[in-house]
Amino acid sequence: MTRRVCIIGHPVAHSRSPMLHGHWLKTYGIEGEYGREDVAPEDFPDFLRDLEANGYVGANVTVPHKESALATVDVADATARAVGAVNTVWIDGGKLHGSNTDVHGFMANLDANAPGWDNTRDKAVILGAGGASRAAAYGLAQRGFGSIVLVNRTLDRAEKLVADLGGHPLQAAAWSDLDDHLKEAGLLVNATSLGMAGKAGLAVDLDALPQTCVVTDLVYVPLETSLLAEARARGNRVVDGLGMLLHQAVPGFEIWFGRRPEVTGDLRNLIVADL
Ligand code: ATR
Repeated sequence: MTRRVCIIGHPVAHSRSPMLHGHWLKTYGIEGEYGREDVAPEDFPDFLRDLEANGYVGANVTVPHKESALATVDVADATARAVGAVNTVWIDGGKLHGSNTDVHGFMANLDANAPGWDNTRDKAVILGAGGASRAAAYGLAQRGFGSIVLVNRTLDRAEKLVADLGGHPLQAAAWSDLDDHLKEAGLLVNATSLGMAGKAGLAVDLDALPQTCVVTDLVYVPLETSLLAEARARGNRVVDGLGMLLHQAVPGFEIWFGRRPEVTGDLRNLIVADL
């Protein structure tokens, strides 16, 4: 029987997940399907609870349903609970299970594209305090970083995120203190929406940044943001955000279709051509 999976969002037409999973299904000759479901927020909990009756063995969940998915699944793993959002759902023993694979995507992207990036694990600086920042902060804390500083325009929001994730090694900081933190950073992450095509650019002075600092941007349209271009020009290692999208899809595919897929150059090129 064909195993069917979908991405549920609202809107969902822009999602690249069908292309990504479709590529793996074809590459590995797996009899499966990966489609889209545009579901309005008021209909989402029922749709998810009836996932099997709707013909699916699992699903990805995207904006605006990730928090609602956490509240709806029967079993959420520790990562989903910590991040406060579910993006991957499967059915096991008649129960709906949920996880958040953005954390894996963020970490695996760095592991794959900047080997040794976490050798010292001293200090990471994250710009932003939304959902993307939360996944990155949790991943870095789990990896054992000694200090993770969240810098956000709205300081309250960073403070709340730090408190939610249990405080130390996380701390919130104001933009005015950014330089002091940058000068000790081993990793700089842009988890704001600044730099995205059509939005304002991210204006950060990188002068204080050590040469050894790895810089990553969760924005991937454009692929090379001005932050990454500037960091690259200074000689810092840079990792773009597209890899996070590719790597976050790996655990879901493995759970639904029983094969751990590879993030290859071919897959990347396929998605790049569609950006
Ligand atoms: P996501 O879930 O993708 O992380 P989000 O929750 O909308 O998205 O968060 C967007 C992040 O970009 C926030 O940290 C936001 O800062 P505020 O919390 O102060 O809103 C940041 N951001 C968006 N536009 C910004 C701007 N013009 N200047 C500075 N920060 C900005």
